[in-house]
Amino acid sequence: MNEITAAVTALKKQLGARVRIMGHHYQSDAVVAHCDITGDSLELARRVPDVDAEHIVFCGVFFMGESAALLAKPGQAVHLPAPDADCMMSLMTPAGLARRVLEQLTATGRRVVPLAYVNTTLALKAVVGEYGGAVCTSANAETMLRWALDQGDGVLFLPDKHLGRNTAGKLGLTPDEQHILRLNGHGLIDAERQPLDRPLLLWPGCCAIHARLRPEQAEAARAAYPGCRLVAHPECRPELIERCDAAGSTSFLIREAARLAGEAPGSTLVIGTENNLVDRLADRHKGRCRILPLGRAYCPDMAKVTEAKLLATLSAIAHGTAEPLAVEAALCGPARRSLTRML
Ligand code: 13P
Ligand code: SF4
Repeated sequence: MNEITAAVTALKKQLGARVRIMGHHYQSDAVVAHCDITGDSLELARRVPDVDAEHIVFCGVFFMGESAALLAKPGQAVHLPAPDADCMMSLMTPAGLARRVLEQLTATGRRVVPLAYVNTTLALKAVVGEYGGAVCTSANAETMLRWALDQGDGVLFLPDKHLGRNTAGKLGLTPDEQHILRLNGHGLIDAERQPLDRPLLLWPGCCAIHARLRPEQAEAARAAYPGCRLVAHPECRPELIERCDAAGSTSFLIREAARLAGEAPGSTLVIGTENNLVDRLADRHKGRCRILPLGRAYCPDMAKVTEAKLLATLSAIAHGTAEPLAVEAALCGPARRSLTRML
């Protein structure tokens, strides 16, 4: 055990039940080893209300910490070891721009319900709450999109166009029923020339890490490992998802690896998602199932959380100098409405 690992372990023991460490599956093994609770974004959000500790240390990106702070008990502090770990997709939907676009879309009296992926800021979730919309994660996107389509005349799905299109495909929506919005920093471009009456309008954002994985890599994997099973996260491009055997959230991918290792020992599973998770699954099922990444895809923001920063956060808590994440009070009501509609 190295010095930092030993120091984190000792400090965690000293703080005892006062602190709970939560971490997303994309965290490094070194950080995951200290987590009391690990999960995908839906599982972590669901677990927060059950945590009784005085302090929650959240190892993940900023929007996940904000959601935890929103769902935490009054007086409970949420700390981010790396507050600069800011999911780049969540920054693709500035709240002011989303409000402007919603104003434009609803100006004619059309009821457009926003459905925001959980990978968005608190300010954006508040706008969504004000417009009667909800939040979804990759684990429940189908259920939530079906719900949103039933609410009004159209749905604005944001920010991930790939997740939106992959989910729409599962619900049987045709490409003609969808439109990726053309925007600039002020709102819709040429609104009168865009087919804004389609049931599903998509914000033009995506996760650069998952979008990096290409359909040609799926073909190469099939050729290199005949008979392999190929699965991917729905943040990947639809052209890649079409070539996969299945697609689903982080928790789905974890279950799929366990299932294959149990039911088809000796088989090969190729996974298109963040590589910290794939590497961990490969280790976990070594000797029973060969698990390989579809391509290189490490999230640089998730990697900003390190054992050293976790140590600094725990030390600050122990010394009473930690500064918990502060969420803007005015945003909490509407943002909580959009989150709890999902939960
Ligand atoms: P999950 O919702 O599957 O945890 O994914 C979160 C994320 O950031 C994926 O890139
Ligand atoms: Fe955001 Fe993509 Fe990183 Fe997930 S993998 S946290 S969506 S940048």
